[in-house]
Amino acid sequence: MMASAAISPLRVVLPDVRTAIPFNSLFTLIMALAIAVSVLIAALLAYSLLRARRRSDGDLPPQDHGNRKLEVGWTAVPAVIVTGLFVLTFFNMRTTPTPGANLPEGRQPDIIVIGHQWWWEFQYPQLGIVTANELHLPAGKRLLVQLTSADVQHNFWVPPLGQKMDLYPGKANYLWLEAPEPGLYQGVCAEYCGTQHAWMRILAIAQTDAEFDQWVQQQQSAPTAALPTRRAEQGQQLFVQLACVNCHAVTGLSDAQAGPNLTHFGSRRTLSAMGVSRPTTRENVARYLENPQAVKPGIYMPNFGLSPDQIDVLVEYLESLR
Ligand code: CUA
Repeated sequence: MMASAAISPLRVVLPDVRTAIPFNSLFTLIMALAIAVSVLIAALLAYSLLRARRRSDGDLPPQDHGNRKLEVGWTAVPAVIVTGLFVLTFFNMRTTPTPGANLPEGRQPDIIVIGHQWWWEFQYPQLGIVTANELHLPAGKRLLVQLTSADVQHNFWVPPLGQKMDLYPGKANYLWLEAPEPGLYQGVCAEYCGTQHAWMRILAIAQTDAEFDQWVQQQQSAPTAALPTRRAEQGQQLFVQLACVNCHAVTGLSDAQAGPNLTHFGSRRTLSAMGVSRPTTRENVARYLENPQAVKPGIYMPNFGLSPDQIDVLVEYLESLR
């Protein structure tokens, strides 16, 4: 690293990632310019249509050729705009961490995001936490996020937190995420990835340091060793008998990875990556267990044809996992 710095006297000193224009601002700027240009063109077109229309039969409107001022103007102004956007985009792209380039030396990702059809796996490798669909993060901290996919291409996008990024199987992408202040931020999968692409939502939960630490402690603790009710115990037995454990991890029971880790399911706010439109109420969880295919057609969780009583004890069990 020292050597390469020493032999590159022309090394461009790039702006600190903290001072570069964030992608969202760049998007807003480009959008505003695009709207301004569209309005201008529509206005000029309307003006020309009115001004230069044929006024009588056999009459040609005035024919203009070769207005040098105009031609230079409409070449120069767009060139300046496009060059400016290119420069801004270039510096923004430099803020995207890429392994081996400007990924900070030796820095490990704070969060690993794995896209699945059709849910999100969030791992916190330094904290030993695995969760799904709800991304907890401490507000005001710049986090290094690694993104990859378990199956097809997805795209992680929580607009207020930073740029969007593709997820590919077998390849790691990186981005910086920072929640400006505590709150809930909604995100989506922004790359078509199959039938339930639209129900691949993200709920980012930005917390104060104290709240985040509390969440970490709760996630690191084993779920209720002694289940709170007899019904919950029956639910757990059923959970094992029905082979739910073949796909879903619950600390102490299973470490399967095919489906979302349910170790702390009862403390989650939303169900099956369906975002705030599907809170984890008992009714919603029961409806889901009754026939997942009716709620989210095409997902890999089959309809087990459960009886109302079986559904009830399973809901009791899942709700107790906090
Ligand atoms: Cu995952 Cu669209």
